[in-house]
Amino acid sequence: MDGPAVEIEYLRKRYGGFEALAGVSLTVPRGTVFGLLGPNGAGKSTMVKSLLTIIRPTECRGRMLGKPIGDRATLGKVGYLPEHARFPEHLTGRQVIGFSAGLAGVGVEETRRRTQALLARVGMKEWADRKLSTYSKGMRQRIGIAQALVNEPEIVFLDEPTDGVDPEGRIEIRKMIESLREEGRTVFVNSHLLGEVEQVADEVAILSKGRVIESGKVAMLTRLAKRFEIRTVGPVPPALRQVLERGGMRVAGDCISLDAEDAAPVQPVIDQLRSSGVAIRELREAKDSLEDIFLRAVQGKEAA
Ligand SMILES: Nc1ncnc2c1ncn2[C@@H]1O[C@H](COP(=O)(O)OP(=O)(O)OP(=O)(O)O)[C@@H](O)[C@H]1O
Ligand SMILES: [Mg+2]
Repeated sequence: MDGPAVEIEYLRKRYGGFEALAGVSLTVPRGTVFGLLGPNGAGKSTMVKSLLTIIRPTECRGRMLGKPIGDRATLGKVGYLPEHARFPEHLTGRQVIGFSAGLAGVGVEETRRRTQALLARVGMKEWADRKLSTYSKGMRQRIGIAQALVNEPEIVFLDEPTDGVDPEGRIEIRKMIESLREEGRTVFVNSHLLGEVEQVADEVAILSKGRVIESGKVAMLTRLAKRFEIRTVGPVPPALRQVLERGGMRVAGDCISLDAEDAAPVQPVIDQLRSSGVAIRELREAKDSLEDIFLRAVQGKEAA
């Protein structure tokens, strides 16, 4: 099937008088990992819950897997790990997966087969028949991911999948997300752990106060954020500093920073420094991480 996995033309959600999503639009290409980023309260969970009809959006136009958002049959092709997922404590991991399979209408024999495979996939085979009350947070999260996959979904929504998971477990979850993409599935990840998303997502959108303030391919966003830093011996003299700042550079003490894709625009700056008798201590290429881009986008928006 062609077309995007999710195409939100316009999504608005008000909780009483509070606007949690202020008319958002975004597109999630099929077969990719999409990261929805944003600070606490930005509206990430509200967006996912609206798409899955867990809450009723105020206004919603768009399509999922080619059908209008909310289409019942389409929701059957979707997997979901809710934020702070809470499954009954007296159930075993195997039973939680079985319960989810039952809701999805998976047959008994097939459920047995899929559950066994999923338990292995999330590394919970040994713990399968213990109650959730004996699990650590990370183990619960693994079972949560397994139950989200039991209907072999075309799109998986994971709302903060690494919440409470230790670094080793996070790497495993990242590998799992990559393997889901290899199987041709679309993975929609809500997260505020930017480093992690940067490593796994193809595209991201940054949400702040109910609005998308930045979006695009991760490679593109981080490439645009390339810059060079020149460090001088002693602070840059004030007169020269003014000239450089007028030329669009940032100067802080002994550090001059300029946005550039390659080293060509750096050369005249070096000449300028030399002719002013300023010695250079270091020249280096720097690249912003997704976190830098995120902070700048969010802070810029708040300042505006
Ligand atoms: N049921 C509700 N009633 C009223 N306000 C709500 C409700 N659910 C969420 N909100 C508000 O809507 C905003 C967005 O919440 P949401 O849970 O979508 O944010 P989030 O981006 O998922 O945050 P987090 O990173 O903390 O999970 C918040 O200000 C929240 O307080
Ligand atoms: Mg949330």
